[in-house]
Amino acid sequence: MGRVEGKVALVTGGASGIGAATVRRLAEEGAAVVAADIQDDKGETLAKDLAGEGLRVAYRHCDVTSLAELEETVASTVSEFGGLDVLHNNAASTGGGYVADIDPEVWRQSLAVMLDAVFFGCKAGIPAMLERGGGSIINTSSVAGFYGEMLSAPYATAKAGVLNLTRTVAIEYGRQGIRCNAICPGAVDTPLLALIHQVSPRTPAEMADMHALGRCLEPREIANVVLFLASDESSAMTGASLVVDGGLTAGTRITGFPQAGGGAYR
Ligand SMILES: NC(=O)c1ccc[n+]([C@@H]2O[C@H](COP(=O)([O-])OP(=O)(O)OC[C@H]3O[C@@H](n4cnc5c(N)ncnc54)[C@H](O)[C@@H]3O)[C@@H](O)[C@H]2O)c1
Repeated sequence: MGRVEGKVALVTGGASGIGAATVRRLAEEGAAVVAADIQDDKGETLAKDLAGEGLRVAYRHCDVTSLAELEETVASTVSEFGGLDVLHNNAASTGGGYVADIDPEVWRQSLAVMLDAVFFGCKAGIPAMLERGGGSIINTSSVAGFYGEMLSAPYATAKAGVLNLTRTVAIEYGRQGIRCNAICPGAVDTPLLALIHQVSPRTPAEMADMHALGRCLEPREIANVVLFLASDESSAMTGASLVVDGGLTAGTRITGFPQAGGGAYR
């Protein structure tokens, strides 16, 4: 018996990185999963590969900046698999720069993908979950939801907004069986992080040193937390912002002393 056996899940940004790892983990643990994304080749390949392993996975093209596309994707998930129990609002893309230099169109587009879309996902998904008597919504925020970050105003602003949207959904729908939690990852080895490495003055090794664990994280390690939140094992949790960051934000780093055993934490 899998940990989410019999549940139906929809994962946005499901073709790549954390989303793709989540699609796999949920399916491995017994869910029927729809991966929604705009990278159709990647999404189709993922669904085909996982179906080849005997897992129940389908891919849908869905631009999350469109409420109509999200509603259509929820409807097709319900008609193919019989309902919706788990929604992972996870897609992201962002522009950035120093605040005074950010083009307003870049700001709007970034917020559309990372904040409006989380609202759209909830708006489209909640009625389907209510039909099933409840469900679990997991929104991907970031440690950047708690802190400012250089050249990342649209990202940090959207991710902070996701945390309060999460809390609000949690308090509005708790008695109807819908739980809503956010995850806040540290640096995870995905194509998004590869883009950051291309422009950041920090080397990958320096970035790894910023985490108490001395390394960046793997998508599967984040997917395992989403799986927990999707499953009934987390039945007492709603409205939470779960930090999954390998200790990135655990310390202030003011003193600069090395770890026990000598590892850097800077
Ligand atoms: N990688 C990290 O270090 C890190 C850290 C904290 C939070 N996160 C968050 O994790 C989530 C997943 O990111 P990732 O690192 O796996 O990146 P990723 O780039 O591998 O995946 C993001 C996915 O979102 C999809 N997407 C972008 N715009 C879309 C749109 N309009 N409609 C539908 N899909 C769209 C992309 O095609 C891509 O497949 C994001 O919300 C990101 O902000 C990532």
